[in-house]
Formats: sequence, structure tokens, C-alpha cells
Amino acid sequence: MTTKIQWLGHSCFYIESGSHKIIIDPFLTGNPVAATKASNIHADFILVSHGHGDHVGDTIEIANRCNSTVICNYEISGWLEAKGIKAHGMQHGGAFQFPFGKVKLTLAFHGSMLPDGSNGGNPCGFLVRFNDKFCFYDSADTGLFGDMKLIGEEGIDLAALPIGDNYTMGPEDALKAVKFLMPKKVVPMHYSTFDLIKQDANGWAREVHHQTGVKVLVPNPGDWIDLG
Ligand code: NI
Ligand code: MN
Repeated sequence: MTTKIQWLGHSCFYIESGSHKIIIDPFLTGNPVAATKASNIHADFILVSHGHGDHVGDTIEIANRCNSTVICNYEISGWLEAKGIKAHGMQHGGAFQFPFGKVKLTLAFHGSMLPDGSNGGNPCGFLVRFNDKFCFYDSADTGLFGDMKLIGEEGIDLAALPIGDNYTMGPEDALKAVKFLMPKKVVPMHYSTFDLIKQDANGWAREVHHQTGVKVLVPNPGDWIDLG
């Protein structure tokens, strides 16, 4: 396995796959649980799931400094390109082969307005098949939806699911999501960053494992996720 994934808190994942460095939803500045500062990040690719500030985060700063390419929906790609940032726009159901692997945009039931009020298009999740065949599904911010069953047919090695409730699925619907997806492993995200989304991730992990047999990993911000 050449793919390594680190949870940096909230919905931010830093990934090294072969020689490639990728970050997803890089909300570090202003994130009370962030494991590092944006200035410590080097990323060749930045995946942005939707326009909300806790996902766009430090995208502009990192992309400017690292000359990164941002992978996102078409509307957000236009917004970034107008700021001089390299972006690769996609839409739901479309996939593209990048140097590190194949990325498909998946459905997400949520909003996507950008921080300045611009139209952020529709929110998405990401299904990433890295070059070593490791398959990561990051649902991003979403409510539960039945088509997760179809996404599960792709054979997911690791799924990241929000459990925070209020803005996204809560623990009960995230348990149903695991039953739809049946990944080898699952990691909870988008919880306990703020009081409004406080959840007992370890309790959720026990219940998921009890009901599905799926292994749940509950990293602390900054931990590398055990993919072995
Ligand atoms: Ni959001
Ligand atoms: Mn969010």
C-alpha cells in the first residue's frame, strides 16, 4: 500500500499516494481542532467538496503557495480561476484520471454557497481510486441517501462519513450509510469541531461495529489512519 491518509480535523484529510500529495477540504485556519497550520501543508492537488468556509478553508493560500490544482465542481473552479488559481472543474457522476488516481464526483445533499456569497454550484463527495487501487470514499457534507448502495458497489476500502448532525447526517443515519456502503473501514468526520456538532464518536464506532462488523477508526486530529 502506497497510500497514506492523515485526518487533520473536521473534514480535512491529507493524503500521500506514491509521490503525490493531496489535501481534501483544507479548513485549518479558524478550525479549533486543526492538527496543523495551512502554512505547513504542501499539496499538489486540493479537493474541495463544496463552497462552505469550513471546506474551502485555506484552499486559496495553499494553492497560491504550492501552485496546486484544485479539483472541484465547475462553478467553484470558475470562482478559483478568476483568482488566478489552477482548477479542474467536474460534475456529479463524472470521473477523470489524475496523476495520483481516478476521481469521481458523487452526490451530496447539502448547500454550496461560497464565502463571498457566490454560487458554489452543487456540493459533492469524492470517490477516489488511487493508482495502487486503494479506494477512498469521502461523502463530504451530506444527508443520508439510498444511492450510497450504488457507491458501495465500487468496493470501498475506506469511507469517511460525517456524524455531527444538524448540518449533515447524524450518528443514526451515518450507521445506515455504513450498511449501504459496506466499506472495509470507516472513519467519522465533521463532529465535535464546534459544540453544535458534538458527538460521541467512540460510542458510534462500537454501535457500527456491533451492527455491521465494519471496522471503525476514530483518529485524533493529526493521526494517520490505519489502512493496513
Ligand atoms: Ni457544508
Ligand atoms: Mn461543513
